[in-house]
Amino acid sequence: MSADRADLEAALGLGPWPAAEVMAFALYDPRHGYYRRTTGPWGFAGKDYYTALDLGPLLGEALAVRLEAAWERLARPAAFTVLEPGAGRGWLGRDLLGAAQGDFAKALRYLHRDDNPAARKAAEEALAPWIVEGRAAFLSESDPIPPFTGAVISNELFDALPAQPWKWDGARWTREVLAEDGPAWQPFDHPESAAWFASRSDGLEPADGSVWCEALPRVASDLAGALERGLFLAIDYGDHADRLLAKGADLRRYKGHTVDGRWWEELGECDLTADVDFTRLQGVLEACGLVEAGHRSLSAWIRDHAPLAAWEAAWQGLAPAVRVKRMENLLQLTMPGMLGERFRVLEGWKG
Ligand SMILES: C[S@@+](CC[C@H](N)C(=O)[O-])C[C@H]1O[C@@H](n2cnc3c(N)ncnc32)[C@H](O)[C@@H]1O
Repeated sequence: MSADRADLEAALGLGPWPAAEVMAFALYDPRHGYYRRTTGPWGFAGKDYYTALDLGPLLGEALAVRLEAAWERLARPAAFTVLEPGAGRGWLGRDLLGAAQGDFAKALRYLHRDDNPAARKAAEEALAPWIVEGRAAFLSESDPIPPFTGAVISNELFDALPAQPWKWDGARWTREVLAEDGPAWQPFDHPESAAWFASRSDGLEPADGSVWCEALPRVASDLAGALERGLFLAIDYGDHADRLLAKGADLRRYKGHTVDGRWWEELGECDLTADVDFTRLQGVLEACGLVEAGHRSLSAWIRDHAPLAAWEAAWQGLAPAVRVKRMENLLQLTMPGMLGERFRVLEGWKG
């Protein structure tokens, strides 16, 4: 059953509540949070949404190639740790560990970091063969991250962090809140986001707006700080700051594979997400010492890193139905208008 106003009041005090606080409650409240359930229904196939991992193993296989190149660049360290915050069901780790080969596979250690209890249960199953071999393990979000060499990878972590929608009304900034009779826009001063948005626009128009993720610098810098040498790679839904401002970015709700903007309804029963401001994320990472940072569409990234010739050869040996699934997986990741064009990959290097 979704949380009601009394549950919101008990958790957040009297309203109106800023949308970011409602999103934090809806996803992470210990009793009601969508990502704090111990059993389904939650998330993926047949439920509310799917991610690139539900389409097949090709993202993990391309990532194995990309991470092997990072391991080579680091002069083939004996231990190459891959930390995945927001790892959910552990499927990206599973596909990566399954695809890694040779000495790179021997060096690869995978760390899953996500306090989502239902996802953790699924990850224990998905990663079982590598847990037994000591090549996959779990960290909880409150555990300090030991410094390591290797990579931080994430898929749809940053779009799941609570974010506050802001809109320029022509004279001042307004923030979206949940009031007594539904969502509303309320004038409010938040100098940090106002200064950031102003710096990313040539001149604001009424209805321009974006989302501001308060936790983004802390989450990104904790992860980048623990990475001593290696690759930081984040896959997420979002865009450049100026494009988000022009679009008037808002929160999205996923329920039963439909998406709408009704973020205030059925709290705890639906997934809520926000666009990631890749310009800001890149700036945070550069301030943490990452170099060569940049982002582009997932489809462009796949076209660069996917071992297409090796895939083509390997697919010849598959049953026709499985081969068709691989083709569909590739098309989803690369064709215009499909998932690979909607997602971006940010990479940066440390050391
Ligand atoms: C949209 S799901 C993505 C799951 C998975 N990466 C996938 O693609 O299937 C977002 C996940 O991020 C987790 N999460 C949110 N904030 C986090 C944080 N600060 N550290 C680690 N995990 C976090 C949530 O618990 C949730 O399982």
